Amino acid sequence: MGIANKRTDATFELVDIKEYNLPKFNETIPAVMSESYETPEVNVWSDKVKELDGFVFVTPEYNKGITSALKDAIDYLYTEWNNKAAGIVSYGSSLGVTAANNLRLTLTVPKVATVGTQPALSLFTDFENMSSFKPAGFHEETVQTMLNEVVAWSTALKTIRN
Ligand SMILES: Cc1cc2nc3c(=O)[nH]c(=O)nc-3n(C[C@H](O)[C@H](O)[C@H](O)COP(=O)(O)O)c2cc1C
Repeated sequence: MGIANKRTDATFELVDIKEYNLPKFNETIPAVMSESYETPEVNVWSDKVKELDGFVFVTPEYNKGITSALKDAIDYLYTEWNNKAAGIVSYGSSLGVTAANNLRLTLTVPKVATVGTQPALSLFTDFENMSSFKPAGFHEETVQTMLNEVVAWSTALKTIRN
């Protein structure tokens, strides 16, 4: 967010899925077939995703996958994601790269175009005592490149949504 907020080509905001209190996925009708939700919390989540043109997913990796919380947050919606762009930043003891690749595959279904540049952070070298975030300086260039790609694709994809 520190890097993104210094940019002038887009407005960035932090969206923490934890704050949306989404329960475990429990819809009868999949979002691809319906845009009305049985779970009240999903309506708030839907409004938020709807208003955004692009995303940067920041994800840890647990046993080679993304968290069930993130998977549910994606699965709950469909058209809200369609024809938007995303970058992925992963972290973990082995950089979270496999989770990032899983996430990339998941996002193909709701038609989110994921950019190629993918910053990956190590629990051992980008965090102090595995908890306090102290990223190595070289990541900034990769993050800027990823954001360049996300802004460009988000801007381009807006034209086909309209
Ligand atoms: C059960 C478990 C499995 C994990 N598996 C992986 C893994 O496959 N790859 C990886 O890079 N890190 C793995 N990690 C390390 C986590 O990504 C790391 O603890 C990270 O800080 C979790 O992020 P969070 O605390 O924000 O949820 C694992 C951690 C746990 C507890």
